[in-house]
Amino acid sequence: MNHFLSLADLTSKQLHDLLKLAVELKEEWKASVNRPLLKGKTLGMVFQKPSLRTRVSFEMGMIHLGGQALYLSPFEIQLGQRESTPDVARVLSRYVDGIMARVFDHADVLTLAEYSTVPVINGLSDYNHPCQGLADFLTIVENKGWDLQGRKLVFVGDGNNVATSLLFGAGLLGMNFTIAGPRGYEMSPGVWALGKRLATESGSQLLSTYDPHEAVAGADVIYTDVWASMGQEEEAAERARIFAPYQVNEALVAAAKPDVIVMHCLPAHRGQEITDGVCDGPHSVLWDQAENRMHAQKAILVKLMK
Ligand code: CP
Ligand code: NVA
Repeated sequence: MNHFLSLADLTSKQLHDLLKLAVELKEEWKASVNRPLLKGKTLGMVFQKPSLRTRVSFEMGMIHLGGQALYLSPFEIQLGQRESTPDVARVLSRYVDGIMARVFDHADVLTLAEYSTVPVINGLSDYNHPCQGLADFLTIVENKGWDLQGRKLVFVGDGNNVATSLLFGAGLLGMNFTIAGPRGYEMSPGVWALGKRLATESGSQLLSTYDPHEAVAGADVIYTDVWASMGQEEEAAERARIFAPYQVNEALVAAAKPDVIVMHCLPAHRGQEITDGVCDGPHSVLWDQAENRMHAQKAILVKLMK
């Protein structure tokens, strides 16, 4: 592993190993043990978009590991505007031991990785959100155990960056994956084909449907995300109308298995894609999921930078 750009770049063994390390680091942290595995190391964090979880969990993770993180706001670097993305990669690599980047265009993360001499981590792009995906499978393993073969993960909503990382992770771990969303907002054929390839290797089943109630039958996990992602703000009103039948509410959750867990990467638009009752209800694992960003990313940092 030189960079962490997409879960689809990993083997299922590498994904398992990252999850095991995340569990180990989480247990140590809960026992107030923070091994200085990255003592003296620094992480440069380039943001083109806002963030709560990604920024804070990476920064706290580096502190726990004995290192430091540097937050670079959208205004400072202005990736590709103030100077070219390859030049940003060349210069940042001279100062820091790792780069985490949250970008609009996934091509920018690939360019950073190509021209950087230090590891690059994708902190969300329009294509995928692999750090979120890793934290989510940590949360799923905590709730459903390590053997995910035959378990069913249902994503309700937009076939977006978060859904993409879940599709890839499910394929690697042998978990069945269903997505339910409106026509015109399916996952792209290229993403689906890559998911299919991973799923064939592990024996997991994939399904794309337009019926959310049919989708959640037998679900072990229901997952949703915002209907309009960062950068799609001007489509928000139109999407709110189109996605309305795909709200994760109490009735939809009741149609899944009785012990279903409900997940959301956050930030949530309460009353749109998810109701207050579900966010704060007995099936929600939202806050564990948010905490797990930190533990999962510490595993990534240690694997890449130690
Ligand atoms: N889930 C997630 O990536 O949150 P932030 O946008 O707050 O980082
Ligand atoms: N799909 C969302 C995820 C936010 C963490 C977005 O890209 O804005």
